Order: sequence, then C-alpha cells, then structure tokens
Amino acid sequence: MRNISSIATMQNLALQWKREGRRIGFVPTMGYLHEGHISLVHRARKLVGKRGRVAVSIYVNPTQFGPKEDLSKYPRDLRRDLQLCRAAGVDTVFAPTDAGMYPHTETAAYSTWVIEEQLSREMEGRSRPTHFRGVTTVVAKLFNIVLPDVAVFGAKDWQQAAIIQRMVHDLNFPLTIDVAPTHRESDGLAMSSRNKNLVGNLRPQAIALWDAIQTAQQRVSTAKQPLSAATLRKQLQRLIEQRPDARVDYIEFFEPSTLRAVTKVSRGAHLALAVFVGTTRLIDNARL
Ligand code: PAF
Repeated sequence: MRNISSIATMQNLALQWKREGRRIGFVPTMGYLHEGHISLVHRARKLVGKRGRVAVSIYVNPTQFGPKEDLSKYPRDLRRDLQLCRAAGVDTVFAPTDAGMYPHTETAAYSTWVIEEQLSREMEGRSRPTHFRGVTTVVAKLFNIVLPDVAVFGAKDWQQAAIIQRMVHDLNFPLTIDVAPTHRESDGLAMSSRNKNLVGNLRPQAIALWDAIQTAQQRVSTAKQPLSAATLRKQLQRLIEQRPDARVDYIEFFEPSTLRAVTKVSRGAHLALAVFVGTTRLIDNARL
C-alpha cells in the first residue's frame, strides 16, 4: 500500500491507473477510521473489482469546521489508520497537508469555492452555515486529484451524500456516487469518529438518537393516518432530553431525495436529527 501526501504524485498515479484501464474506487474520510469506514472500503473494492484500485483519503478538512467548532479536538491517529487501510486491502492512502490543499502565499490566498445552494440550506447547513461549502469544495478537489470512477459515502451523513450527488450532477463530474448503509454499534449508536469523545456516563446517553429513530419508526408504522411533524418532533425531543446531558439541535422530517421538509409524516419520509451529548454533537437519520 502506498501512502501519498503530494497532490501531484496522487494525480499522476490516478492518471497512470486510468491509462492501464483500471477503475478507481474512492473513499474520502477525515481519518480516525472505524468499522464503518472499513465497510466503505470493502464496498469500493467490490465496485471496482480485483483489477481496480481503491484509494482512501485521510484529511481533516479545516474549511468545513466553523470558528467555534471542534477542529483541534477532532481525533487523529494516522499510524493506526494506515494499518487499518493496509489490512482492508486499500491500494493507496492519500493524506495531503493543509498547505497543499489550501495554499496561501503573500501574493495569493486560496479563493475558489464550490457552493451548493439548495440542499445545503437546512439542517446541518442551518446549524453550521459554512460547513457544506467546505465539504463540497474539498470533495470537488479530491475528485480532481484522485479521479475516481466511483466514490463511496456513508448514509449517516445523509444530507452530505445528497449534496455531493447534486454537485456531481450539476458540475458533470464523470463518476458515480455510492451511498452505503450506516454502521451501528450493538446498542444502535451510529459509528462515528466523534464517539471517542463520549466518555463516562455520556456514552449510554448517546443511544438517545437511536431510541428516537426507533420510536418514530414504530409510531409511523402503527399510525392509521399521517402524523403531525410538529407533534412528533416535540415527542422525540422530550424523549431525548430526558437524558441529563442530551440537548436537541434539530429534528427534521423530509422527503429523502429532495430533502424537502414535510409537515405530515408517513411511511417513506426520512428523519434526521442532531443532538449534543455533553459537548459532542452527534447526527443520525433513517427512513420511516
Ligand atoms: O464525511 C466526511 O468525513 C467528510 O465530510 C468528507 C466527505 C471526507 C469531506 O471532508
């Protein structure tokens, strides 16, 4: 397995793979890998086959963190990530530097952004106004560097996956986006690098999100008619905030592909929620 930090080296390798007629599968990550990421790697391998090449990027992208967010607290362990990638059969890890990705000199600072203007307004976008601009920009850059035929994203970041799909469509990137199901711990907590920050009695409180999802799924499946989104939201909020350290940021019900909010919730609607457990912000979502 190769570990590349230079943008030019990665791009040349990708071009060489293309000349050799190999399909490139790509898993973009911010590192601190867990089983959920590894399942994306296996999925990428399946999609490109034995002759194909699988690349994983490991880059904690500063532009998707707000000024008051946890960039410095974001967990990192490149050595362990490299071991996990090697064991999972990754061909190349691309781990660029901030200076490489966002060059800033005396005469020219980085100044080109990719902005999606519809799907990114609500939910994560409302709570984190500059977040998706950072995500679409870095993902577009990574696509231009790794030149994938298929890129695999996790469904845990449902809105992110929808926005990337829209960007790929709108900007005619020649690749397919594959969205893989959320990996969960045995008690239902969605796997996330941020779970590391759930220490002591915060960890058991974090199943509040899964609890809310299951409750909503059950309410919808037994309801005789569509439920009021406002009422269901209040009920779920109460359920979550019974835990002393859990505080709801948002609970939204929407149509899964357009992300358009619904006021009546019935089977097939999608639920997404963000909850602070202590100071750690967790997100999750599911089809109802
Ligand atoms: O989902 C993530 O880990 C990040 O948002 C991504 C897609 C790697 C971009 O930095």
